[in-house]
Amino acid sequence: MREEERTRIARELHDELGQLLTCIKLDFVATVRRLRELKTPGDVVDRLQSAVGQVDLGIAMVRRIATGLRPPGLDHRDLGGAIEYAARRMSAIAGIAMPVAARVNETVENEIATAAFRVFEEALTNAVRHSQASRISTTVGTTRRGRLILYVSDNGVGIPKRRLNVRSLGLLGMSERARTLGGTLRITSRANHGTRVLLTLPLDAAASGRDPGSGIRDPKVPDNVRRADPASRIPNPGQVRQV
Ligand SMILES: Nc1ncnc2c1ncn2[C@@H]1O[C@H](COP(=O)(O)OP(=O)(O)O)[C@@H](O)[C@H]1O
Ligand SMILES: [Mg+2]
Repeated sequence: MREEERTRIARELHDELGQLLTCIKLDFVATVRRLRELKTPGDVVDRLQSAVGQVDLGIAMVRRIATGLRPPGLDHRDLGGAIEYAARRMSAIAGIAMPVAARVNETVENEIATAAFRVFEEALTNAVRHSQASRISTTVGTTRRGRLILYVSDNGVGIPKRRLNVRSLGLLGMSERARTLGGTLRITSRANHGTRVLLTLPLDAAASGRDPGSGIRDPKVPDNVRRADPASRIPNPGQVRQV
């Protein structure tokens, strides 16, 4: 499937089907209220109430599918290859150096690769659009302790103070993806010293609860990632901290 086709399907799923389900739900909710006023037998109301619950599940499912559609870059490449390819292409367009170090040694599940690739795209696009950097470096790899690490850093102007703690969708979206998969996202920024985005995700989603944040100290994490870490904890998802 081509990118435009995917985008169209994602948008239609999200907007059209999402809207439709929301309208159905509102009608049901109004009907439940009215039936109660009319003292309709409880089992009828319960049936309808349960249908509202099902519609809610449908709305959640649509949202999940629409945001989880696999990026085309991952069709014929593994995560490292897809990131290298996307960086090469963007580098040629933007005229900015975009070195990539990819050390993905483990199999990365579809959902996790998709999330990491989307975070990479957002971090890279942000750096190109906002940072005036001359160099945007990316490291992606898996660790022996079963985590995926993605690190994108630029040498640009940093995120302006007035943008800190703003609920901006790109930054929030990255945090949201990390959180949904039991991972972490940290953003550090320093005026005229650039911005760093560090994503860690558990490779085994089921194990995520048992191994919080341990990826940072993993042996294969590059030195610069380790150095970036202590100051880079963000108190709430979506918040950015200047150091
Ligand atoms: N790498 C970066 N360098 C400088 N500023 C950035 C960087 N990333 C984000 N920003 C700033 O943070 C803001 C919020 O980013 P984001 O939520 O992705 O929104 P958008 O990219 O749509 O403006 C941007 O508008 C920009 O001012
Ligand atoms: Mg953005």
